[in-house]
Order: sequence, then structure tokens, then C-alpha cells
Amino acid sequence: MLTPCLVAATVFGLSLMPALAQNAPGGAAAARHAGFDIEAHRGGRALRPENTLQSFANALSMGVDTLELDMGVTKDGVVIVSHERGLDPDLARTADGSYVPAPGIPFVKLTLAEVKQYDVGRIRPGSAYAARFPDQLAVPGTRIPTLAEVFALVRRSGDHHVRLNIETKIDPNHPDESPDPERFVALVLDLLRREDFTGRVMIESFDWRTLRLVQEQAPAIPTVYLTQVQEPDANVYLDRPSPWTAGFDPRKYGRSVPRAVKAAGGKIWSPLFEDVDQQSIREAHELGLRIVVWTVNRPEDMARLIDMGVDGIISDRPDVLRAVAARKGVKLPRPAPVSP
Ligand code: G3P
Ligand code: CA
Repeated sequence: MLTPCLVAATVFGLSLMPALAQNAPGGAAAARHAGFDIEAHRGGRALRPENTLQSFANALSMGVDTLELDMGVTKDGVVIVSHERGLDPDLARTADGSYVPAPGIPFVKLTLAEVKQYDVGRIRPGSAYAARFPDQLAVPGTRIPTLAEVFALVRRSGDHHVRLNIETKIDPNHPDESPDPERFVALVLDLLRREDFTGRVMIESFDWRTLRLVQEQAPAIPTVYLTQVQEPDANVYLDRPSPWTAGFDPRKYGRSVPRAVKAAGGKIWSPLFEDVDQQSIREAHELGLRIVVWTVNRPEDMARLIDMGVDGIISDRPDVLRAVAARKGVKLPRPAPVSP
């Protein structure tokens, strides 16, 4: 019989126990990094318009283990792909070419037909956001995709390896800007079942309420606990309760974030990369958690984190991550060329 530790040690058939792998005969780099997860953040937003079929096709074509993306829900109950909970003034343009004014209308107030009117293929020129991604290839005419359209693209690519790390974008401080956790999870699980994609996804969130619901209703789907301790955008606090963590307050667990994630039922801990150190990585592994850090774009940070033993990296530059990972002995995912 497997021990609980070994049962917990497998997600998607990947090793959750790098410590064991490091002790493999010969200590080969390939064994040490078995199951390392190369994730394209929003499809790789430094290269193509984020969270679009353009970026996902680009990532599939270069070869990644996982497409990371963000989900919203329209007024008519369709799961769409967007980081913001509404139209993004730095991304969304009307037919006359003008960017929408801030704050953008929440998707829960727009039908899918209305959402599809907007062009998100070019970051607003001159914006601070555009300055962060000078290498992004603009693709005017690009629309916000539905999650079902992303699944269709993955099917069309013929890539049977790639998985999707899909995030419920819901903020407990702004309950009017998305469906409530129950409806959000019901819509996502219903879509996954209809599309036969439950076996190819992880569900991630800063809002642990949605992850608890996923665990209750679809226990086979791995849940990914996003955390940020650093202010100003923290969702986990070490000195007070948080509305984000469904009552799993690290103060009850020796001020340990990975222990709170474990107690909440997480399989994967996904912290801001600047929040982790060797000790927290070791602690998470001892708890049987995988650690997938975000969002790492500099090659020197990628190399350092791989050496520290993280199990995956989410990056806006999957091309750079592939190159760094290859140098570290990681087995690279195969390209699956596909057009958007
Ligand atoms: O998946 C991790 C990362 O995507 C979380 O940050 O804000 O880009 O969704 P954000
Ligand atoms: Ca995300």
C-alpha cells in the first residue's frame, strides 16, 4: 500500500518529491528535474497579446508543458479568458480604435457578443504596460477568447502533453464584478466536463474559496494555491486574517504559508517567486506540495530557482525559460506547431 506521502506525491504522474529524485542513482540532472513544469504565463505575454489564441498558439508552437490563463464570466454565463474582471483600458479597443475608459465595464455586465466587439491585439501605445513588454508582437483584430475556443486550439494542435493552469479571477473585495464562488466554479466544472478537459487542467486561484469548492465537487482536479505575502497586493497576511484564504490563516499554522496551503487541501503551492527561499521550498516539499513560482522573466532568476528545487516556473518568456531549463538538464516539451 502507498503511504499517504507517496499518494500525495503524484500529480499528473509527476514526481512531487524532488528530494528523492536528487538521490536517484547517478544524480542525473534529468532525474533531478523530472516533471519540471514550463508554464507560459497568459500564453507568454511578452511575446504575443496576452490570454489570446495568438499567445496560446505561439506557446504551443514552441512547446510548453502548461498554458497558464485567467478566467472571467460574461453576463450570459460564458467562461472567457481575461486577466482583468472587465474590459482592460490598456488592452481593449472599440471599432474606431479608441481604448476603453477606466474603469472598464465588468464582464458580468456584458454578453459574449458584446465582449467580442473589442480588439485586444495591441497594448495601448505609450502606456506603462506597453513599456513593460516592448517585444510583444501586436496582432490587431485579436478578440478575447472563450475557454472553449482555447480547448479547440489545443485539440487542433495535436499536443496531447500540454495542460492548462486555469485561474478563477474573483476578488472577495469586489463581489459585484464576478459571479459568486459557487456559480463561478459550477460554470467552469460544467464546461470542463462537457469538453472532456477535466483530466488536463489544474485550477488555480488567489481566492481559496473557489479552490475548496473545486476540491469538494471535482476532487481529481489538482488545485493550485496562489499566494503573495509582499504588499501592496498581498492575499495572505502573516499578522491578520484575509478574506482570500477561506479561513486558512497562516497564523494557525505557525505563520507558515505552505502549511496553510496543505491544510486547505492544496496539491500545488504557487507563490510569488520573490516570496520563497530555500527553507520554504524545503518545507513545502516535506509537506508533499509541488512548488510552481510566478512570474519569472529574467534568466538568472530562472536558473537560481531551478537550482533551489522549484517544480515549475510560470513565465511571460517561455522561450527564455525553455533555454534556461535545457541548460539545467530539464527534458523539454515538444513543439506542437499550430496557427491561432
Ligand atoms: O499563475 C500565476 C500568476 O498568473 C498570478 O498572477 O496576476 O498574472 O494572474 P496574475
Ligand atoms: Ca494568472
